[in-house]
Amino acid sequence: MTQRTALVTGGTGGIGSAIVRYLARQGHRVATNYRNPDKAEAWRKDMEAEGIEVCMVAGDVSDPASCAAMVREVEAGCGPVDILVNNAGITRDTTFHKMSYQQWTEVVNTNLNACFNVTRPVIEGMRQRKWGRIVQISSINGQKGQYGQANYAAAKAGMHGFTISLAQENARFGITVNTVSPGYVGTDMVMAVPEEVREKIVAQIPIGRLGKPEEIAHAVAFFTGDEAAWITGANLAINGGHYMGW
Ligand code: CAA
Repeated sequence: MTQRTALVTGGTGGIGSAIVRYLARQGHRVATNYRNPDKAEAWRKDMEAEGIEVCMVAGDVSDPASCAAMVREVEAGCGPVDILVNNAGITRDTTFHKMSYQQWTEVVNTNLNACFNVTRPVIEGMRQRKWGRIVQISSINGQKGQYGQANYAAAKAGMHGFTISLAQENARFGITVNTVSPGYVGTDMVMAVPEEVREKIVAQIPIGRLGKPEEIAHAVAFFTGDEAAWITGANLAINGGHYMGW
């Protein structure tokens, strides 16, 4: 397998860590951004203990200038980015009639505008080199909507609109662009949902349990491989059967 440089945004989070681990174990050089240096250093040490070296760069995905600097630093330290996983994401759940403008914009900036901020400095190099893999980590809730998540569902649905446009524009340049839409995975983000609400959600999942981060990482690795060269503009739902769109 060809060794490549992969940038995974939000790599220190639940699903992000699993993606970093999976791509690193496949032999890629993996980079991620962080916002909290103390948390990042503890995470880096945990990874190192597992034998995984990660190129860590400070960067706020909601800020275009910070992302441009972050990509420059990753490329200087680890080489041109051939694989980009737009994974960083946050929630600010509340019903829309109570939602503040800040709760709306924080989620849209971090989950959707980040796709512009991080992909824009990476795309020209991929086009020049005629190879690239871009994966958006969207959500089941971008597909089906979710009570209390008008901001998050709008941003996550927008990510797939981004995928299918970018896929068309870049297909001739050896670049594939796809979306993975996880359902409820057992990460801190999902465990923050009140227990009684979460139990009702799990009861709606035919497979009968939350997902595991590795189950999402496996799909990301699938899309980023050389063998997936003819798959572009796809959305792969991984949700235990919770939402079966087609
Ligand atoms: N459908 C219909 N009614 C619902 C509902 C639903 N899905 N969820 C809650 N309600 C109802 C309640 O039964 C309650 O009704 P009563 O007042 O008649 O008892 C009412 O809504 C509560 O409404 P409030 O406006 O008072 O809401 P709240 O302030 O108590 O909290 C909430 C609402 C923040 C949305 C809370 O229910 C919640 O956290 N829900 C979970 C949201 C969720 O799934 N987030 C996903 C986070 S993980 C993630 O995002 C990762 C991923 O990609 C999957």
